[in-house]
Amino acid sequence: MNLYEELWKQLPIPAFVVDPLDNVIELNVSAEQFLGISRKLVLDQKMWKFLLGENLIPEGLKRARSKNTSVLINDVSAYGRSTYDVVCSVHICPLPSNNQNVLLIIIPIEGLEYQSKKMVRTTSTQSVIGMGEMLAHEIKNPVAGIIGAAQFLSMSLTAEEIEMTDLIVEESKRIVSLLEQVEQFGDITPPKLMSLNIHDVLDQSVKTAKFGFAGNIKIIREYDPSLPSVWGDRDQLVQAFLNLVKNACEAVDQNGQIIIRTFYDGSLQSAKLGLDGQRLPLHIEIIDDGAGLLDSIAKHIFEPFVSSKNNSKGLGLALVSKILSQHAAHIEASSKLGKTIFRISFPLSC
Ligand SMILES: Nc1ncnc2c1ncn2[C@@H]1O[C@H](COP(=O)(O)OP(=O)(O)O)[C@@H](O)[C@H]1O
Ligand SMILES: [Mg+2]
Repeated sequence: MNLYEELWKQLPIPAFVVDPLDNVIELNVSAEQFLGISRKLVLDQKMWKFLLGENLIPEGLKRARSKNTSVLINDVSAYGRSTYDVVCSVHICPLPSNNQNVLLIIIPIEGLEYQSKKMVRTTSTQSVIGMGEMLAHEIKNPVAGIIGAAQFLSMSLTAEEIEMTDLIVEESKRIVSLLEQVEQFGDITPPKLMSLNIHDVLDQSVKTAKFGFAGNIKIIREYDPSLPSVWGDRDQLVQAFLNLVKNACEAVDQNGQIIIRTFYDGSLQSAKLGLDGQRLPLHIEIIDDGAGLLDSIAKHIFEPFVSSKNNSKGLGLALVSKILSQHAAHIEASSKLGKTIFRISFPLSC
C-alpha cells in the first residue's frame, strides 16, 4: 500500500469519489461506517441510493461540476440507510485531472451526538434487520416455486438445455441460503437456558463442521476437563461456535489447523468482567493459523454486513455476538499473521 492509499484509508472523515454519472468509484473506511454498509455494496452504485439526506448535496455536486469549482455546504443533514442523520459540512471538489470525477467529503459537526447516535444504531439496525427478516421470509416461497418449476422443466429437456435449468436451481438455492442467514439474524427468540457441558456443544459444532465445510482441515481440541458447566441454549451456542469454526476454516489453507481450547481462569487479576460486572472465568478460544483479520475491518467485524468475502453477507459474527450477549458472555478477537484468536468468556452457571 503506498502512502496515499494509506492516508485515504486512515482518514477519519467520510470521503467518496463520484464519477460523472454519480456512481461511487471510491470510498474510505470512514465513509463505509458513515453509511453503515460495506464498501463492495456501494462501489459502482449510484451515490444517492446510499447517501441520504437533504437535496442540497446532489445540487451542490451539480454546481461543483458545472462551474468546475469547489462547493462547501454547511449545516446539511446526511445519513446512510442504517444510520441516523447527522448535521454535517459537505465539501465537494472536482478532480479535473481525473475523468471529471468529484471528491465529496462529509464532516459531521455534531461530534458527541454522532457518537451517541452511532450507539443507538443497534436499535435501528435491528429494525432494518426485522424488515429484512420479513422480506426474506416472503421471498423464500416464490423462490421455492421457481426451483420446483425449473426442476420440473428439466425433465423434458436435452442434456444441453438442462445446464440452464441447473443454473436456475443452483442460483435460486444460493438466494435461499442468503435469505436464511438474514432470517437467522433477525430471529429474536430468547435463549432457552439450561446447564450445559460446553465440550459437548463444541464437539457437536466440530462434528457438523467436519461433515460440512471443514474438509480435511485439522481441528485440534485442547479441552480443560475440569471446566464447570455453562448456562446456555444448546442450539444457539452450537450455531455460534459453528460460525466461528466456519470463519476459521475459511481463513486457513488446506494444510492449516484450528485449535479449540478451553480453560478456566479464576484469578482476580486477569478476571474478565461482563456488562453487569460479573466475572467471566470460563474461556473458549478458537485459534487458527490463517492470514489474520484485515486491518481495514478488524474493528467492525462484529457489526452486521461487514465482510471481506465475495458472496457473503457479513452476518456471521454479528449473529455470534448477538447470541453471546443473550448469554451474558463476552467475545473478543486478536489477530496477527498466522494466529487469530476468537476468545469467548462465560460467567459461572451458579
Ligand atoms: N478467523 C478469521 N480470520 C480472518 N478473518 C476473519 C476470521 N473470522 C472473521 N474474519 C473476518 O471477519 C469478517 C466478518 O465475518 P462474518 O461476520 O462471519 O461474515 P462473513 O464470514 O460472511 O464474511 C470476514 O469477512 C473476515 O474478513
Ligand atoms: Mg462468517
